[in-house]
Amino acid sequence: MIKLLIVNLYLFLSFSAMADNLFIDLVDGKNVTEKNVREALKQLRDHKEVKLNKDLLVNPFHHKKEIKDKLKKPFCQNCHLEKPHQVNQRNRSFLNMHTKYISCETCHLNNQVLKLENKWLAYGYPNVGKVIDVYSSVHTEAEKVKTSILPRPGAKISPFNKGKKVVVFKDEKFSIEVEKKWKTLPEEEKARLKASLHKPLNKKGLSCDKCHSENQKVLDFKLLGANQKQTHSITSNDIAQFFGRYKKDGDRLRMSDLLR
Ligand code: HEC
Ligand code: HEC
Ligand code: HEC
Repeated sequence: MIKLLIVNLYLFLSFSAMADNLFIDLVDGKNVTEKNVREALKQLRDHKEVKLNKDLLVNPFHHKKEIKDKLKKPFCQNCHLEKPHQVNQRNRSFLNMHTKYISCETCHLNNQVLKLENKWLAYGYPNVGKVIDVYSSVHTEAEKVKTSILPRPGAKISPFNKGKKVVVFKDEKFSIEVEKKWKTLPEEEKARLKASLHKPLNKKGLSCDKCHSENQKVLDFKLLGANQKQTHSITSNDIAQFFGRYKKDGDRLRMSDLLR
């Protein structure tokens, strides 16, 4: 009887520990198909390793680097570069620029079925890992005349589920376990791991117009602390809207289009 109780308690505890992060719950591998695994295996075999450049000998922006070193890294960076977008030459610089203030998960989690709310998450101290309440936090740079809506350095727009962050940082237990497995597992098992980690993710990411349009549904600008002027400037951003308009490879972004 007591044994049964302990087993139940154990199950309950491990379950409640699991439920602490939606992403970790979603990557339990249950929905992974054999096709998913085969595709991942093919990717692993075709994959060309990207060589990381060493840090510059003389860092041009000392101060910025100091801030950056203190920031948490996303779990995705176990395997992906800090600037992960390379394939599409047309938009990759813009996408990589956004990773400074938008979490990977905001653009890459399949959000049709999930109840997610995008808020500012602190990647740095103080309050690392917590939501930044832009209206009450003393650490918010509340000066509303500035053009950026970033409340403070190291803040990223990130999905929350039932008030909990969905983002997993690179130094969290789950991430360290994945890193270990990735280094030691045989190729077939790595393919299965890749497939389960990416099952809840959206390969295509969010296109520009998913945020940069009047009727966008991804961002709640009030919640993010953007005033009307800032909101308008984001939803009517000419560069982002141009990306929605051009379809053919020959289409070019012209300065005259922007200055119209
Ligand atoms: C353990 C390693 C690992 C981790 C962690 C990881 N990825 Fe990947 N990811 C891969 C591999 C391997 C590929 C295959 C493509 C390639 O060759 O780079 C891939 C491919 C992708 C792709 C292209 C579409 C696809 O599914 O093949 C996207 C998008 C992506 N990852 C996003 C993410 C995001 C977002 C995170 C964090 C939430 C993440 N990845 C975490 C290893 C990883
Ligand atoms: C602003 C939205 C946005 C953010 C933030 C974002 N992505 Fe993406 N990502 C995209 C889009 C859109 C694509 C599809 C690009 C294309 O092919 O046009 C993509 C494609 C990818 C790919 C496929 C390979 C490639 O070179 O394009 C990987 C891998 C990837 N993202 C990983 C990440 C990781 C890791 C992060 C966080 C560090 C991240 N993304 C953050 C929108 C985003
Ligand atoms: C997940 C939502 C989201 C997506 C998707 C997205 N953006 Fe943005 N973008 C933002 C937000 C939020 C800002 C405002 C950042 C700030 O105020 O600092 C922004 C800012 C910008 C800016 C202004 C940057 C500056 O420094 O003034 C440009 C240009 C831009 N985005 C272009 C794009 C393009 C091009 C794409 C598609 C390839 C894209 N965005 C996709 C949310 C998004």
